[in-house]
Amino acid sequence: AKDLRQLAQQHGIKIGTAVDIAALRDEPDYRQRLNREFTHVTAENAMKWESVEPERGVYTWDDADALVENARRNHQQIRGHTLLWHNQLPAWLTSGVEDGTIDATELREILREHITTQVRRYKGKIRAWDVVNEVVEEDGSLRQSIWLQHLGPGYIADAFRWAHRADPHARLFINDYNLEWNAPKIETTLSIVKDLKAQGVPIHGIGFQGHLGIQYDYPADWANVMRRFADLGLEVAITELDVRMVLPVTPEKLATQAEYYRRALTDCLSVRACREMTVWGFTDRHSWVPGWFEGEGAATLLDENLAPKPAYKALLAVRGRK
Ligand code: G3I
Repeated sequence: AKDLRQLAQQHGIKIGTAVDIAALRDEPDYRQRLNREFTHVTAENAMKWESVEPERGVYTWDDADALVENARRNHQQIRGHTLLWHNQLPAWLTSGVEDGTIDATELREILREHITTQVRRYKGKIRAWDVVNEVVEEDGSLRQSIWLQHLGPGYIADAFRWAHRADPHARLFINDYNLEWNAPKIETTLSIVKDLKAQGVPIHGIGFQGHLGIQYDYPADWANVMRRFADLGLEVAITELDVRMVLPVTPEKLATQAEYYRRALTDCLSVRACREMTVWGFTDRHSWVPGWFEGEGAATLLDENLAPKPAYKALLAVRGRK
């Protein structure tokens, strides 16, 4: 393949990226590359609750709308990220819950309203939604979020039902990190999915974030884990792939990184139900990694100047689905 768009076509999957909205607006080279290479996009931050409703009842859709419009013009499909999370919630919401001015009944209503409003706004324009994000802890218990604490575990089913009602054609995903290898998390997530299915709740997909690092072993069992979710009837997606390293960059580290990217794509291609591989940013110029892991970085496919790294070339060389 000559680029990622062609690679996606060749393999019959979607290859996407998270989009930094400021870069999309301000950097022509970023914009050009994004639109040329990718068939699928996710908003890195622009569709999160704090971005779209910073003050109660005051909606700021400009960034999200701009992303949707850019995608339309460039024939890209969209993954909506994310309707329900414990991070990047608006301050009015978290403080209201904390000081007791928002009680459980009202909180449930606020959540219903949020999901309904956002999904309805982009009805027919968003292929798939990350409905719930990161709802399981590392030890396999349900995450202690304001949602669990105030609404109880039923909030997950509610969120899917509300999203489905607002756009019956959108594919609805549960999304998480470390799900590539963490056994307690995998088992709990599988049982959540089984429960939802047994109750007739509309859930269609599992998202593996795929935040990897070369200082850790590659999650060798990943394809098997994907298959276990596929066996429950779910579509599988890699939703936030990146492969960070401890700086400085060396040729050896870049070669290892390339191997991790190649294996992730190969794992996806080995599972029929895996239909999408999205990277969490495509250039080291814009990546969440250096801001979150001190001394780490260089996690994406292109360097700061948008020059292809070995990982990019390794992906292009991957051969067809078996
Ligand atoms: O919006 C402010 C801006 O006004 C200010 O000038 C700037 C200065 O630091 O901060 C901006 O907010 C930052 C925001 O990204 C937008 O750039 C926040 O500080 C920063 O914490 C936030 O980080 C995002 C992170 O989620 C927050 O949880 C990352 O960009 C984003 O890549 C990351 O994405 C998550 C996925 O949603 C879920 N899975 C994990 C993944 C990586 O953490």
